[in-house]
Order: sequence, then C-alpha cells, then structure tokens
Amino acid sequence: MTTTDLQAGFDETIAHEWRVEPRDWMPDGYRRTLVRQVAQHAHSEIIGMQPEGGWLTRAPSLRRKQVLMAKVQDEAGHGLYLYSAAETLGVDRDDLTQQLVDSRQKYSSIFNYPALSYADVGTIGWLVDGAAICNQVPLCRSSYGPYARAMIRVCKEESFHQRQGYELLMTMMNGTDAQRAMVQESVDRFWWPSLMMFGPPDADSPNTEQSMAWGIKRHTNDELRQRFVDMSVPQAAALGVTLPDPDLAWNDDRGAHDFGEPDWSEFAAVVRGDGPCNVQRVAHRRAAHEDGAWVREAATAFAAKQAAS
Ligand SMILES: [Fe+2]
Ligand SMILES: [Fe+2]
Repeated sequence: MTTTDLQAGFDETIAHEWRVEPRDWMPDGYRRTLVRQVAQHAHSEIIGMQPEGGWLTRAPSLRRKQVLMAKVQDEAGHGLYLYSAAETLGVDRDDLTQQLVDSRQKYSSIFNYPALSYADVGTIGWLVDGAAICNQVPLCRSSYGPYARAMIRVCKEESFHQRQGYELLMTMMNGTDAQRAMVQESVDRFWWPSLMMFGPPDADSPNTEQSMAWGIKRHTNDELRQRFVDMSVPQAAALGVTLPDPDLAWNDDRGAHDFGEPDWSEFAAVVRGDGPCNVQRVAHRRAAHEDGAWVREAATAFAAKQAAS
C-alpha cells in the first residue's frame, strides 16, 4: 500500500469514529502528539502523588489515612496504565521517565502548588480531581484505542477521589470556625490554579484544532473550563464556601456562568518551571527514581532467570 492509501485508511477510521489501534498505520504527527499527551498525562499522575503524599504521615485519623493512602496509590496505578498506553506507540517508559526527571517533558502545572493544610487534601480531591474528570471523561472517546480504554478505569477512580475530597470538606465545614476558615483559605488558593488546568485560552492554544480533527481531543480548553465552573458553583454553595472571583455570576442569556480571567502570566511562569514547587517536585521524583534502581535491576535479573528456566 502507498502512503496515500494508508492515509486514506486512517482518515476513514477517524471519520467513522472508529478506534486507531497500535498495529494500524498512523501519521507521524498523530503519533507524536499522542506520545506527548499520554506521557504528560502519565507524568502528571506520578508527580500528582506528591502534594497529598506529604500528608500521609500526618492524617488526622486512621480512616482519613486509609482513604488518602488508597487515593495516592490509585494515582500510581493511573501513571502505570498511561505509561503502558504510551509504550504501545513505540516509546519506552524508562526513556519517558528520564525525560521527566531531566525536565524535558512536562506535567500538569497544578502539581507545582504546595498542599499547606489538611483542608488542601479535600480541596485537591474536589477541585483538582474534579477538573481532571472534566478533562478526562471526553478522552474515554479519544480516537486512540489504548488511551481511551485506560481512561475508562481512570475516570471511575477519579470520581471516587473527587467524592472523598468533597466529603472531607463537608465534614470540616460542619466543624469549628477554625476548620471552616481553613477550608475557605484552601479554596482561595486552589480555585484559580484549578481553572488553569484546562490550559491556555483557545485563542492561545495552537494545537487544539489539529487534536480535535484527529479525535484526540473532543472539546476546547475554554469549553471544558466553562463546564467545570458551571459544575463547581452549586457544589461550592452546598459546601458554604465562596469562590474567590468577584466576576462570577450566572448569565441567563448564555445559560452559563460568567467568570473572571485567570492570571495567565502566573500560568506561563509555572509552566516555564518557576512555580512554587517545580524544583522540589522534579528533585523528589529524580531521587525516588535513583533510589529505586536496585529494584529495577533485581526485577530484570529475576525476569531473565525465569525466562532461562
Ligand atoms: Fe489520577
Ligand atoms: Fe485522582
């Protein structure tokens, strides 16, 4: 078959909303875009263990500790499914990890913010996992089969994460004045960075159009951000917290909420590597990777021994 025939077959797959599978021919740009997106997603899951992971030894009760432990372990699992999905595109997990620890590949900007109080564990579950769900549910229909299938299980677990966060916050809001203040302070810090999780405004997102044409992405950044705001406003009201945006208001004509503009210069700085915790997050990941070298060596030696016998 000529490249033209192969391209026509690929175009037909996309036009019919069929799935592209690892054995299928795909354009180089499609493969490159997916490798970048799936690798960044995998790295985000792994780095995303850090902000809350720091609270595991300081959880306020055994129940909270069990819940948090389960959540952080889920994120490790999400990372592993996603590295496996990336490997079906012909890249190597070791190489992707190396690119992460050398800061040659990115992860979600949100994980460069610190978790300063236990209320942050709740807020991260509610808002950060909530934003992740808005981003990821449409990816269950992504055109690349292994990525779409990985997303189904990931989304089920993310929805547990969001609920545990919301339940934690609701418990604190029903507690003392000091606990309520702790929740509000946490929401004040995480609201805007959560809106930034959807990426830059559509006008500044040059890759969106091609990703949508390929069926890798299903909605634009601004569409998803709007959906997240509309979902969060009634949840904030039920909790009794104020979202820190004076421009937030229901717009009857649009049937949606108007809201203020995130500080895109802050977003650019965090993406560039100048967020509050970028250096710490990557250093921690690098140290964990180096400390784990003996485990990888032992596992490889064991696998070789098994294969020989
Ligand atoms: Fe996750
Ligand atoms: Fe999660």
